[in-house]
Amino acid sequence: MLERLVFGDVPAKHHLALRAGGRLRYEECLTRKGFDGPYTIAYHEFRPQALRAVGVPLVEPLEAATSSASGELARRHFRTLELGPARRAPLLFNAQMVLGCFRPSESDAAYRINAGADELLFVLDGGGTVRSLLGDLAFSAGDYVYLPKGLLYRFVFDTPGPHHALFMEFPGGVNIPGRFRNPAGQLKMDAPYCHRDFKRTEFRPPLDEGLRDVWIKRGIERQRFAYDHNPLDVVGWDGCVYPWAFPILSFQPRVSSVHLPPTWHGTFEAAGALICSFVPRPLDFHPEAVPCPYAHTSADVDEILFYADGDFSSRRGVGRGSLTVHPGGFAHGPHPGRYEASIGATRTDELAVMLDCNAPLRPTALAVGIEDPAYEASFAGGMLP
Ligand SMILES: [Fe+2]
Repeated sequence: MLERLVFGDVPAKHHLALRAGGRLRYEECLTRKGFDGPYTIAYHEFRPQALRAVGVPLVEPLEAATSSASGELARRHFRTLELGPARRAPLLFNAQMVLGCFRPSESDAAYRINAGADELLFVLDGGGTVRSLLGDLAFSAGDYVYLPKGLLYRFVFDTPGPHHALFMEFPGGVNIPGRFRNPAGQLKMDAPYCHRDFKRTEFRPPLDEGLRDVWIKRGIERQRFAYDHNPLDVVGWDGCVYPWAFPILSFQPRVSSVHLPPTWHGTFEAAGALICSFVPRPLDFHPEAVPCPYAHTSADVDEILFYADGDFSSRRGVGRGSLTVHPGGFAHGPHPGRYEASIGATRTDELAVMLDCNAPLRPTALAVGIEDPAYEASFAGGMLP
């Protein structure tokens, strides 16, 4: 959550009547942690709860792949650009998150609400607008896009497809790490980004696009609902819960005399994961530094990497759109030769999103269908000849 914003017409105090042209507006509170957490209050032309279920709910269980050449303990590599068009292609999941690809071929024809999870996307290809209840949010390739649980929105693309993004769903929420804030809630001056880096919604008075349907999703269940009125009917709102976008290149990387662990690249935190950004930067400057990561046994986390651009110093055989999983509990590290070859390097142009995930992730059959079967064996071997 960022600072409080206020747009349009709001009354002088919470829960007071707001009238325009003699008509009463309807207050809606979007709250977190019951009524204890951050919140936003919006004022509607119509009753926001006036929606009705249409048809039967769809149940879409997340199922782990039943067979694969790789076991669950293998290091794995999925080539996500090989996926076909899909609004949501779940690839990996545990009880705390679902990760996958957002690869739509066209704009959403209906509104959506994720009632069960915060959504965070990292956009690899494509750009456009998140048209939401709280206004229009412009985004482009290289942005993280945050969509809070409970927000009504749809994606409107301004470029032809295919669009491609890593999507992350966190039922427990996504936050800016508390250590980045001062007691006033402001981002500290030594945080790796500042308030000015975030793209926020542009307020838009009520806009009737002629759409009345909304798909509401919670967990594995999805249900279509219909309004009798235009749901984009907000005349004003204020609060701290709203969508935003953050360009990954606005992350200010840390550089040290020796290799810094991924926690220094921590960007956002979620219940069950730390989300890190690896961006182009100078490398370690100790004269004897080994810039490439040391092998490590991270006993408690599965490590995910989503590759966006550049040459990743520790790996080979991966490229743009690659998604790798290295399971926790035993040693992993660079590909053969990469550790030694990195000595003396002064700069990296890598661009990637990394997640340290607190519980083992399981791949879906969709993931196994785009798996690189040679990845696990590619780590065998010794020193450079
Ligand atoms: Fe690692």
